[in-house]
Amino acid sequence: MRLFAALEIPGDVRQSIASLIREFRALAPQLKWVRVDNFHLTLKFIGEVEPAKLDAIRSALAGVQCRADLDLRFRGLGFFPNDKRPRVFWAGIEAPPGLAQLASDIDGALTRLGFSREERPFSPHLTLARSDGTRLSDAFREAIVKHAAQEFGSSRIAEFRLIESKLKSTGAEYTTVQNFAFASES
Ligand code: 2AM
Repeated sequence: MRLFAALEIPGDVRQSIASLIREFRALAPQLKWVRVDNFHLTLKFIGEVEPAKLDAIRSALAGVQCRADLDLRFRGLGFFPNDKRPRVFWAGIEAPPGLAQLASDIDGALTRLGFSREERPFSPHLTLARSDGTRLSDAFREAIVKHAAQEFGSSRIAEFRLIESKLKSTGAEYTTVQNFAFASES
């Protein structure tokens, strides 16, 4: 089974992004657009694991403590690695340091189970579309520049999730395996 840990994105933020990207789709039909229901903030991609390891993963994640709720602000649009060779089209997330700490603590807990440590620095984002790196149309780039600092709303997060991803011809299908509430004092 293919697993990852992520934060759920609130419905109003999803809808606010969805209404903007409706106009972008026509400008970039060659991109693989993520379904609005599938938007999430990835904390750790775990990858393909033997189902027999699931209980150990659940226990490791249950031991991760996040002491305060996280206030996230969804704002801005951009590309990884850049708009010349776009691979990922994203919406940005402004977050307190506790978010990177949570991602690091999840990574650490899974490393102790033998999973490889995340090499890339944590860079919180929502993937809106994926690209094979081919050049974007000028009209699409101009539309992004125009909305580069757009606000999509904010939200207080109090749990993270372990999610199973099934890759289908119609796109990824995500199922929540377990929610892990923060041990919040706020
Ligand atoms: P991202 O889109 O948020 O960047 C579930 O598949 C999530 O795990 C994806 O949304 C992606 O995060 C991340 N992911 C998928 N495949 C990955 C890989 N091979 N290496 C690292 N992260 C991956």
